[in-house]
Amino acid sequence: LFADVALAPRDPILGLNEQFNADTRPGKVNLGVGVYYDENGKLPLLRCVQEAEKAMAAAPKPRGYLPIDGIAAYDKAVQKLVFGSELKHVATVQALGGTGALKVGADFLKHLSPNAKVLISDPSWENHRALFTQAGFDVQTYPYYDAARKGVNFDGMLAALNAAPAGTIVVLHACCHNPTGYDISPAQWTQVVAAVKARGLTPFLDMAYQGFGFGLKEDGEAVRQFLAAGIGFFVSTSFSKSFSLYGERVGALSVVCTSDDEAARVLSQLKIMIRTNYSNPPTHGAQVVAQVLADDKLRALWEEELAGMRIRIKAMRSALVAALKAAGVTQDLSFVTEQLGMFSYSGLNASQMQRLRGEFGVYGVDSGRICVAALNEGNLPTVAQAMAAVLKG
Ligand code: LMR
Repeated sequence: LFADVALAPRDPILGLNEQFNADTRPGKVNLGVGVYYDENGKLPLLRCVQEAEKAMAAAPKPRGYLPIDGIAAYDKAVQKLVFGSELKHVATVQALGGTGALKVGADFLKHLSPNAKVLISDPSWENHRALFTQAGFDVQTYPYYDAARKGVNFDGMLAALNAAPAGTIVVLHACCHNPTGYDISPAQWTQVVAAVKARGLTPFLDMAYQGFGFGLKEDGEAVRQFLAAGIGFFVSTSFSKSFSLYGERVGALSVVCTSDDEAARVLSQLKIMIRTNYSNPPTHGAQVVAQVLADDKLRALWEEELAGMRIRIKAMRSALVAALKAAGVTQDLSFVTEQLGMFSYSGLNASQMQRLRGEFGVYGVDSGRICVAALNEGNLPTVAQAMAAVLKG
């Protein structure tokens, strides 16, 4: 039965964790996966989460099945956070992280528009291509990163959207573009929304890093603009990073419809996707998030802790640029401080990234992406020395 099963390559991101864990060198540094570590190199357990969990432990509840679409209070809290208020014309379901939300959305879209093409940014999060391909779509790209100018090739992006056939599914990074860290401006979003609307495209906004760019509200600009355009669109939300609840798999999919009735019908279809995949979602993580978002004090604490992560990442960007300069790198690397979110698209090529890994135990993605959110004063010298050595050839 299994004689012809091919050995698949490791996952380009999570596969690095496997390699990292097997590496016995004491000074190894993991800048591969997008995970925030604090100044001591520890995965934080946010205080707002601890407070919510204390309250939950004080009033323990039995663990029955959740509704197929998850905890109602959680879905409502997600709507308030993502859209500013609860909206009847939006179908929101709890999902297994941002990835789970993308997959439920992709499966639904495959039923809805089986022949549509999917466009993802060039480059994009590695799993976008894999996930939409696995859902049965032909996945192509629109231009995004301008390597020469270190920024977004906005003209190229817009031209591709304007040339896409009606019904094309366009995956957009709502904020903190993964992997490049370059976002488009609010004025450019206006042009993207206009093009998408005029061409009749289906936008799918991936919002995995809300709060890591400029702030929760600021990072919601793209969603607000699409909402105001009055068209149908998808938003996947992840709380993995913003609540540091990676392993709890807490996310949501929201499908913005053009009427309440449409939303009710869409929700009924999303429930089929969920029921036939994993039946219904788990209880704990979403309960924690719902509890924090519903309580003014915990919500304020969360925003403070999220801001703390955002500020520390920005400080590490500057520290990295300074450390590289001190290590004798002469190239202008100030672009690292302009990028947003957890990642820096370092400009290093695959063989340089492999050298970082092989010679220095510094793990990043072959695309040149490094997770700046995993840097700290302790590992910075190792990383800077390694990058300097590789950059000098
Ligand atoms: C990443 O890009 O590293 C994260 O989104 C984690 C993942 O699942 O790939």
